[in-house]
Amino acid sequence: MSDYIWKKGSSTDVDARVMRFLAGEDVVLDRQLLPFDIRASQAHARGLARIGVLTAAQAEAMTESLDALAAAFASGEFVLDARYEDGHSAIESWLTERLGEIGGRIHAGRSRNDQVAVALRLYLKDRLARLARFCADIARICLERADREQAVPLPGHTHLQQAMPSSLGLWWAGHAEAFVDNLALARQTAQWLDASPLGTASGFGVNLALDREGVAAELGFARLVVNPQYAQNARGKVELRALDALSAATGDLRRLAWDLSLFASQEFGFVRVPANFCTGSSIMPNKLNPDTVELLRSLHATVVGARTELDNVLSLPSGYQRDLQDTKPPTIRGFERGLAGLELAPGMLSGLEWQTERMRSAIAPELHATDRANELVGQGQPFREAYRQAAAEIDGLGRRRAEDSLRARISPGGCARLELGTLKTRLEGLLDASLE
Ligand code: ARG
Repeated sequence: MSDYIWKKGSSTDVDARVMRFLAGEDVVLDRQLLPFDIRASQAHARGLARIGVLTAAQAEAMTESLDALAAAFASGEFVLDARYEDGHSAIESWLTERLGEIGGRIHAGRSRNDQVAVALRLYLKDRLARLARFCADIARICLERADREQAVPLPGHTHLQQAMPSSLGLWWAGHAEAFVDNLALARQTAQWLDASPLGTASGFGVNLALDREGVAAELGFARLVVNPQYAQNARGKVELRALDALSAATGDLRRLAWDLSLFASQEFGFVRVPANFCTGSSIMPNKLNPDTVELLRSLHATVVGARTELDNVLSLPSGYQRDLQDTKPPTIRGFERGLAGLELAPGMLSGLEWQTERMRSAIAPELHATDRANELVGQGQPFREAYRQAAAEIDGLGRRRAEDSLRARISPGGCARLELGTLKTRLEGLLDASLE
């Protein structure tokens, strides 16, 4: 272990077991944050040069050395491990080992408290951009398949009981619209947290005229978190909202996965999940199970569990408390697992094979009763009377074809008028503004 950056002599020796407990999973989690921490450190160094705390040459030397650290980390040559207390200390140690006393100048005007907060905001912006991209990918596949398969009949269910003839077009477009909404939420959330806490130091500001705006602009932030106390109090709060945006997507994926796992059962027999997304049974030779669908369904539990854990850490007074370190495991676990699942969804969705004859023949005659009632309404009957007449005529509905029912479903959004163009225009509009 390299010396702690806060070590002041033997009076600050800490028991090794205590240190292990305090560090927790920190160095492992900080591997996700290190590239962002490095970028923020470079911007901070340049900011210090602008106000004369560093010379231009010192800032340049630091920036170059940090580029080398980023490259060594990316190639695996530098490993962030228990030799360091955390990623922040590793950055300072790297600089000090290579640049001597110049390295010790990087921490002027900052604390690990704002350092971790800015790295986390950059991490969340990056992951929310990925979330937005995956939502867009899912929505695009759903819209394409809605267009291609719009006229394919599918029994519509309420209460898991057959209800009315529906279509693959309506089913796909329903999931598409969900993911367009989720894309919008990811982007709104990214904008909402797009503020730099860097330069608020330990939570009280510093007696240096830091160029906080310039540093924030260089890092691509839209604005500052102005108040140093709030920069700390917002920690965990922004992660919570980011997990909310993620959970909107994983929650919708859960529904979609539920539909598919029902439709893929032999009892329904509506769909085949592509074999490269399935695994076999260790004992039953006959089986190929839709495991991907199932683990995409349980993904939401991981995200919501993470959110709950995080929320419970936040029972805190104002300012930095070490408890805040415990907001990192659920945030990073939730995002890494959640995004890994969402990324798989488009491939699985594009490979689905529908058993269209089976779906058509599953539509029993009585499913046309609501259409019949509305036809009578079209002829001028009061709906309640038409409802009773259609109920009495159910036995006579046997000759109806599902395709005719779908063609007549002309209310906006209905099977004959899916408004795919409207959904596509909204999707493209959200994508137009840059995602990064
Ligand atoms: N690992 C710490 C965290 O995530 C970094 C900040 C440490 N700050 C401190 N004052 N000990 O919160």
